[in-house]
Amino acid sequence: MLIRQAVTNDITQFIYFRKLLLGGEDNNGMDEAFRSHFQSGLSDGSLVAWVADDKGVVISTVCFSLCRLMPRFDNPSGIVAYMSNVYTLPDFRRQGIASKLISEAIGDLKMQGIRKILLHSSDMAKPVYEGLGFIEGKNYMSINI
Ligand SMILES: CC(C)(COP(=O)(O)OP(=O)(O)OC[C@H]1O[C@@H](n2cnc3c(N)ncnc32)[C@H](O)[C@@H]1OP(=O)(O)O)[C@@H](O)C(=O)NCCC(=O)NCCS
Repeated sequence: MLIRQAVTNDITQFIYFRKLLLGGEDNNGMDEAFRSHFQSGLSDGSLVAWVADDKGVVISTVCFSLCRLMPRFDNPSGIVAYMSNVYTLPDFRRQGIASKLISEAIGDLKMQGIRKILLHSSDMAKPVYEGLGFIEGKNYMSINI
């Protein structure tokens, strides 16, 4: 198994996993919006994506959307990475693949000076994130406008 950064050829699999995560695998209505988001994000660097590749098949993914906030004493670059699209194909689960993938991707972000990663977890993934050192925080307030 190869752990590597995603390339544009991987986008179809990212879209497939994204729709599974959103519970809309039969809904093709957003495919072009997803494709365009992945394409532009990968090309301008605002999206960092990694995959676990088993003999040419993408079996697990993770994405980080980079957001530039105000610098803080504990985060001088101000860049916050929002982690999403964490998915492992069912036949490959419970073999440590997501943990290894996320850990390698985070190691690379750290080398680039990124100091903060946020995420919203599914119940299923929470132990995996805790095992990697993520800590449960307070919810934030939001409004849809
Ligand atoms: C959550 C998810 C990404 C985990 O992927 P994974 O590749 O199975 O993750 P890992 O193998 O690293 O860890 C999963 C569990 O397997 C265990 N495990 C790891 N290696 C193992 C091994 N060799 N033998 C047995 N168990 C093992 C881990 O300890 C972990 O257990 P825990 O959940 O009780 O902590 C996967 O279940 C998934 O895609 N779920 C649906 C989508 C989802 O919820 N995504 C997260 C959105 S926030």
